[in-house]
Amino acid sequence: MILERPNAINLKSLQTELGDIENRPNVEELSKMIKMYQLYQAGEKEISTKLENLDSEFQVNFDYNPIHHMESRMKRIPSLLKKAQRKGYELTTESIKANIYDIAGIRVITNYIDDIYKIEKMLTSQSDITLLRRKDYLKHPKDSGYRSLHIVIKVPVFQSHGPIDVPVEVQIRTVGMDMWASLEHKLRYKTDADSKLVDKYGQQLKNYSDELENIERGMQDIHKNLI
Ligand code: GTP
Ligand code: MG
Repeated sequence: MILERPNAINLKSLQTELGDIENRPNVEELSKMIKMYQLYQAGEKEISTKLENLDSEFQVNFDYNPIHHMESRMKRIPSLLKKAQRKGYELTTESIKANIYDIAGIRVITNYIDDIYKIEKMLTSQSDITLLRRKDYLKHPKDSGYRSLHIVIKVPVFQSHGPIDVPVEVQIRTVGMDMWASLEHKLRYKTDADSKLVDKYGQQLKNYSDELENIERGMQDIHKNLI
């Protein structure tokens, strides 16, 4: 028996939380959103399980595991609506489903750069998974210096009446790139004016990202030479 059953999202408390959102959805629309949320949560679990299975297979069958660790998160409904509003999308379930791909998100942190593409291949080659979107910020780093591979994949979730495909965003990056991104993200939030960080320290942060990439390539070469 499964003892851990998370509480369903409560419509009343959600309505209170959405107090500051203009044109917030009505009760009927919010109920639809809660149902959609459950579905995306199930999609996130499907992909997490696939990754956990790959991780334990490596743990048992091989002496090397490309996965350092993994994190998963669901974008909460209030932040989802704020994002939709910011981007100028209609605040309806249909519009959110059509336009926002990172409702369910998983981050896979790898040991080396090549592992990123190995993980991508292992996931996307599974017969029930379809690749929807792909952004390779390793080959084309962002101006900030951000490096990561972002893919959106679709997985079927089996509901009582049949399967429904759900998109899940998977961000794959190395430990070094993850360290850079998480510190840079915190610095961004520390400055009220984004421009202060960019003007004053932008080049320095970008240089650090380049240096980290060099170090990680070097460490990867050592690893390859040893095996
Ligand atoms: P969003 O609507 O913001 O998701 O934009 P998008 O769909 O174009 O996604 P994008 O590929 O830019 O990825 C957005 C996510 O990547 C963010 O939520 C961050 O987690 C991460 N990210 C993108 N750029 C940066 C960056 O410069 N610094 C850091 N630290 N993270 C970044
Ligand atoms: Mg995003």
